[in-house]
Amino acid sequence: MTMQPQADKLLLIGATGQVGRSLLPFLRKKFQVAVLMRPKTYASNPKKVKELEAEDIAIRQGDLDDEDSLVNALEGISVVVSSVAIASLLSQLILIKAMKKVGHIKRFVPSDFGIDVRNHTDDVPSFKEKVQVHQALFDSGIPYTIIDTGPWMELTAKGFGGPLNPDFELVPQDIRLWGSGDTVLTMGFLDDNSRLCAEAIADDRTLNKRVMVDVNVTTANQLIETWVRLGGPRPRVGPPVTEDEVVQLISHVTDPYMNFGLRIMHNGHFHDGFKRPDDYLSTSELYPEVTKACTTVEQHYAKILTDLKQSTAT
Ligand SMILES: NC(=O)c1ccc[n+]([C@@H]2O[C@H](COP(=O)([O-])OP(=O)(O)OC[C@H]3O[C@@H](n4cnc5c(N)ncnc54)[C@H](OP(=O)(O)O)[C@@H]3O)[C@@H](O)[C@H]2O)c1
Repeated sequence: MTMQPQADKLLLIGATGQVGRSLLPFLRKKFQVAVLMRPKTYASNPKKVKELEAEDIAIRQGDLDDEDSLVNALEGISVVVSSVAIASLLSQLILIKAMKKVGHIKRFVPSDFGIDVRNHTDDVPSFKEKVQVHQALFDSGIPYTIIDTGPWMELTAKGFGGPLNPDFELVPQDIRLWGSGDTVLTMGFLDDNSRLCAEAIADDRTLNKRVMVDVNVTTANQLIETWVRLGGPRPRVGPPVTEDEVVQLISHVTDPYMNFGLRIMHNGHFHDGFKRPDDYLSTSELYPEVTKACTTVEQHYAKILTDLKQSTAT
């Protein structure tokens, strides 16, 4: 692992989760990384422990709900990145207290990695919690970087940005667009996002700023045109999904994962939630060379088409 000789020590919280696992290798290129693991996870999940130990990653035991354990885990640490689960967002308030107590944290990146939670905060319950964490962070005076990435391309490029649309096929599909189909979609693959997050976390220009990872900036209508230009069948576009329909759907869908996804899509498509707000720095402007190496919509759709053609030929 290549790294600066005097690299800062970084504590990653949430390393066993989706975002944390993806961030880890990119952060290790820039920092000396230790990960925080809950004692109960350490004791009950030897697989997670072995995976980290096999890569020579220092594990510090601690729990966001236990301030003393955090004070111990922060020894010698100057940068803290949290990618904790949505269910544990408010436990970061305890982490902020612990960081304030130790007094040597040069940057904290809270668990965001989504969209601007100030925009129509009532749309999604976790937005309120993220806003609360941000306010506590500002009040603490600890330097920070708030990083959002838009929705993952893995999720959003499907169905031309419409979560209820069918999967891609080589025959024309019936789809509906959410609203006009012209709202901005900012998205990138999880690992591309993580690569750019690591750049931002190691960059003095992003201190006390909000940053948007903006690998692909497009719209649902542009997604359709890209698909067709690459040789995909033009979908049959039905009447648009209205905001009223989506609000009704949200009030009826009881599956929490689905309900959450619908709320995010509602915010994105009807409240312009997938657009980079003016006060966010843009990673495609800060790191153009790294961004060029990331997967574009064209590349993604071309691969889907090739895979579909291969699977029908066999
Ligand atoms: N942009 C997008 O499309 C997108 C998609 C998904 C998530 N996100 C955002 O990414 C962030 C992380 O989500 P995720 O899906 O990666 O989460 P996740 O997979 O559920 O991972 C959660 C991590 O948090 C750790 N954790 C939970 N409670 C903890 C505590 N009390 N103390 C210490 N560690 C604790 C878990 O550790 P254990 O191993 O101990 O359980 C695990 O490592 C969230 O802010 C979410 O909104 C964005």
